[in-house]
Amino acid sequence: MYSQGVQISNLTLMNSPSWNVHPVYSSNVVVQGITILAPVTSPNTDGINPDSCTNTRIEDCYIVSGDDCIAVKSGWDEYGIKFGMPTKQLLIRRLTCISPFSAVIALGSEMSGGIEDVRAEDITGINSESAVRIKTAVGRGNYVKDIYVRRMTMKTMKMVFWMAGNYGSHPDNEYDPNAIPVIQNINFRDVVAENVTMAARLEGIPGHPFTGICISNATIELTKKPKKIQWNCTEIAGVSSDVTPKPCNLLKDLGSQNTCNFPEDDFPIVKF
Ligand SMILES: *[C@@H]1O[C@H](CO)[C@@H](O)[C@H](O)[C@H]1NC(C)=O
Ligand SMILES: *[C@@H]1O[C@H](CO)[C@@H](O)[C@H](O)[C@H]1NC(C)=O
Ligand SMILES: *[C@@H]1O[C@H](CO)[C@@H](O)[C@H](O)[C@H]1NC(C)=O
Ligand SMILES: *[C@@H]1O[C@H](CO)[C@@H](O)[C@H](O)[C@H]1NC(C)=O
Repeated sequence: MYSQGVQISNLTLMNSPSWNVHPVYSSNVVVQGITILAPVTSPNTDGINPDSCTNTRIEDCYIVSGDDCIAVKSGWDEYGIKFGMPTKQLLIRRLTCISPFSAVIALGSEMSGGIEDVRAEDITGINSESAVRIKTAVGRGNYVKDIYVRRMTMKTMKMVFWMAGNYGSHPDNEYDPNAIPVIQNINFRDVVAENVTMAARLEGIPGHPFTGICISNATIELTKKPKKIQWNCTEIAGVSSDVTPKPCNLLKDLGSQNTCNFPEDDFPIVKF
C-alpha cells in the first residue's frame, strides 16, 4: 500500500486463500513473469488486483484461478467514492489465464474510485467463464472508461463479452442510490474465440446505458450446444464491424473494415 516503484518478478505463488498480488494506492508498479496457481474450485483467489493504482504494467504472467485472473479495482460504494482514487494507466500484456468460474480480466465490481485508461493486449484465455467482464452496480458511482483490448485468443468460454450494471453486492445499506456509474468508451478488437457457449451479455443500468462500446474483427466459434440467443443486449449503445456471430442491433454495424481504437502512444510505465 502507498508505494512508488515496485517490481514483482519471476515468482510462483501457490494456494493463496484469497487475492494473490494486491497493490493498493500505489504507482509505478511492474508485475512480470509471475505464475499463480490456485485450485479452480477455490473462491476469491483472484490472481492480480491493481487497486487504486496509477501506472502499472502486468506482463508475461500465467494464472490459474478460482476467481478472476486479473481484477481491476478502486474502492467500494460510498467509501470508494469518498476516497476517490482511480486505477488508471494500466497495461496488461501477454497474459495466459485459466479461470473456469470467473473472468480473464474483470473491471470491478469495486470501481468506485473510477477505472480509466486500461490497455490489454495479447491475452490468452483457456477454459474461462468470460474474457473481459465489467461488473458494477447502482451505488458504485464514478466510471469505467477508456478501456482498450486487442488480440485476445480464447478457447472454451461461457461468454466472451460480459458487462453487468446489476452486480449488487454492497458493503452496507448506506450506499447512495443516486451514485450511478458511467461506463463508456470500451473497445475490443482482433478477438478469436472457439468453443463458446454465448458471445455476449451486455446489460447496462436501466435509464443509464453503457455507451461507446466498440467491437471489431471478432470471430467467435460456438460449442456444439450454444445458447439460442448469442447477443443479449439491454441499455447499451455502440458499434461493431466484422463480428461473428452477428451482434445485437444496439451495436450498430459499421460495415466491414472499421477498426476499434487502440492508442499507439505508450504509458510512462512501459519505459519504467
Ligand atoms: C526474470 O526472468 C527473465 C527470464 O529468465 C529474465 O530475463 C529477467 O531478467 C528476470 N527478472 C528479474 C528481475 O530477475
Ligand atoms: C483480425 O484479428 C486476427 C486475430 O488477432 C488477426 O490475425 C487479423 O490480422 C485481424 N484482421 C485485421 C484486418 O486486422
Ligand atoms: C468445449 O466446451 C465444453 C463446455 O461448454 C467442454 O465440455 C468441452 O470439453 C470443450 N471442448 C473442447 C474440445 O475443448
Ligand atoms: C437477456 O438479459 C435479460 C436481462 O438483461 C434477461 O432478463 C433475459 O432473460 C435474457 N434473455 C436471454 C434469452 O438470455
